[in-house]
Amino acid sequence: MMLESERQSVVDACRFMQDKGLVVGTAGNVSIRVDDLVVISPSAVPYEELTAADVGVHRLDGTPVEARLKPSSELPLHLSVYHATDVGAITHNHAPASTAMGLVCDEVPCSHYYSAMFGGPIRVAPYAEFGTGDLARNVTDALADRKGALMSNHGAITTGPNLAKALDLLPYLEYICEVQLRAMWTGRPVKILSAEQMADAADGMSTYTPTSLDADHS
Ligand code: 13P
Repeated sequence: MMLESERQSVVDACRFMQDKGLVVGTAGNVSIRVDDLVVISPSAVPYEELTAADVGVHRLDGTPVEARLKPSSELPLHLSVYHATDVGAITHNHAPASTAMGLVCDEVPCSHYYSAMFGGPIRVAPYAEFGTGDLARNVTDALADRKGALMSNHGAITTGPNLAKALDLLPYLEYICEVQLRAMWTGRPVKILSAEQMADAADGMSTYTPTSLDADHS
């Protein structure tokens, strides 16, 4: 089986989304780009039953290379994002706060500094039916210069240079939306960070990584 470890990573990512409550049923899909190929979850397969062999390999024009099941209905969306950007992986979920936020705004304001992880305010792509070219276009536009977007009346999407990074962002996106929603429920004005504060947060987070203090003891 070609690209077996990438196919298994797609299965693991789908299970992660399910374990974290970011999807219900067979909602959501995951893909990885490997050179001019796309490894993508199949359509409508319950995640408990999903195996690496169910995950298909397609060309960037959508033609199957090694796939025994129909690919995710969002293959056009994944392909559109790969054509428009150099990202290496895409995850799509139907997490409740992300989906709810997409119903009440066109952009998630920067109320939490974590928005800097996504490149700024997170846009909400206008609604189009799932699996359509219109949805693919709307979401690709909403992702311009961003690592995530909401999909109106539908869910959320994140991208990354690899699957681990794209997947890491999903719970943060859900958290940002959950916090903003809770703040809005109070009916009180929500404090929004300035462009300068966001730029500083982006700077700070660029060095937010486990750092050894060994050098201090030498
Ligand atoms: P698939 O099972 O076809 O990937 O569809 C799930 C989904 O979330 C559609 O947007």
